[in-house]
Amino acid sequence: MKRREFLKLGAVATGTFAVLGTLRVGSRAVSAQSGAVPAVDRLVMTNVVDNVYDVFAKGGKLDTISVQRTPLERDDTLLAEHGLAYHLESLRGSDRREILLDFSLTERNLLNNYAVLKVDPSRADALILSHGHRDHYGALPALAHLAHGKLRPGLTLHAGGEDTFCHRVVVTPVGTVDGGQLDRGALEAQGLRVVLSKDPTVIAGHAFTSGQIPRLTDFERPPAAARLEAGPMGSACSVTHFGATKVEAKPGELVSDTFQGEHATAYHVKDRGLVVITSCGHAGVINSVHQAQKASGVSKVHAIVGGFHLAPAPDEIVAKTVEAFRAIDPDYIIPMHCTGFNTIVAVHHAMPKKLVMPSTGTRVIFGA
Ligand SMILES: [Fe+2]
Ligand SMILES: [Fe+2]
Repeated sequence: MKRREFLKLGAVATGTFAVLGTLRVGSRAVSAQSGAVPAVDRLVMTNVVDNVYDVFAKGGKLDTISVQRTPLERDDTLLAEHGLAYHLESLRGSDRREILLDFSLTERNLLNNYAVLKVDPSRADALILSHGHRDHYGALPALAHLAHGKLRPGLTLHAGGEDTFCHRVVVTPVGTVDGGQLDRGALEAQGLRVVLSKDPTVIAGHAFTSGQIPRLTDFERPPAAARLEAGPMGSACSVTHFGATKVEAKPGELVSDTFQGEHATAYHVKDRGLVVITSCGHAGVINSVHQAQKASGVSKVHAIVGGFHLAPAPDEIVAKTVEAFRAIDPDYIIPMHCTGFNTIVAVHHAMPKKLVMPSTGTRVIFGA
């Protein structure tokens, strides 16, 4: 494990980065310099696509957030699917930024919901892809193609590692399922600038990514069924990029997928704390939150959002995760996508006032 990492504070508009603080990782309590990441006054997080659309989901003002639901309309119907996509709009003084995080499974659903929710990709200041699973990148190639020439010049897509662009396979008792492969070159050919943000990185001057996430808990494990196809040595999908432990594998062989390049997205909301968005959480939702705390030097967690990938987890792992949630003590937990009914029920039982149920088209307003 690296003993010291640098927190990169990026000026995305210019593509330059300045190193302003150091970050040590390991068993010791670690913190970056306070103020190492910007604080935003307000964050409006829109769940553009999620697994469910619940017309009865409650909205309204809670203690320190507002939850807005999108009502069912005859002509402008939101579409749900096994996938995840967000629109993130933040304010810092008079500065407004928009980020698109993850791109769901199908072009049909993503573009439909962008239109219904009045999300305009041409306004995006940055794009972030959490990891290389099709239910998060599926519509990205079509979006890049359709929006070619309309997006901001030099728009950057932040991925977390080489494995984002490797061929993925899921091995099940009844056979293998092809997980697809995202073509980095095709995205770049459409004008996107693709950057591997392996270390914590400030995005568009408002958000930050976790960088690759140290696996510190003893109960969070990547899905056992997940595999990566090894590429030729020296290529982006060479086994040297698949994790800290070197794996011997020939090109074409399947190796266990540790999701080395998965990263979380977070904001420091002024007077509230961190909003941490895990997306799919294969690195572990608790590991992801701890990494966001270390990267930012901010300990207070306002909200934990995203897919926590605990749907297939045994009760013991769910219970340990909920215990860790108690220790972190966020104000809100918004469990989406692959979190699982088991975990939603456990969170509801343990901390009902913190739970906000997900639904496609939900807008959560954090901060002032
Ligand atoms: Fe995933
Ligand atoms: Fe997912």
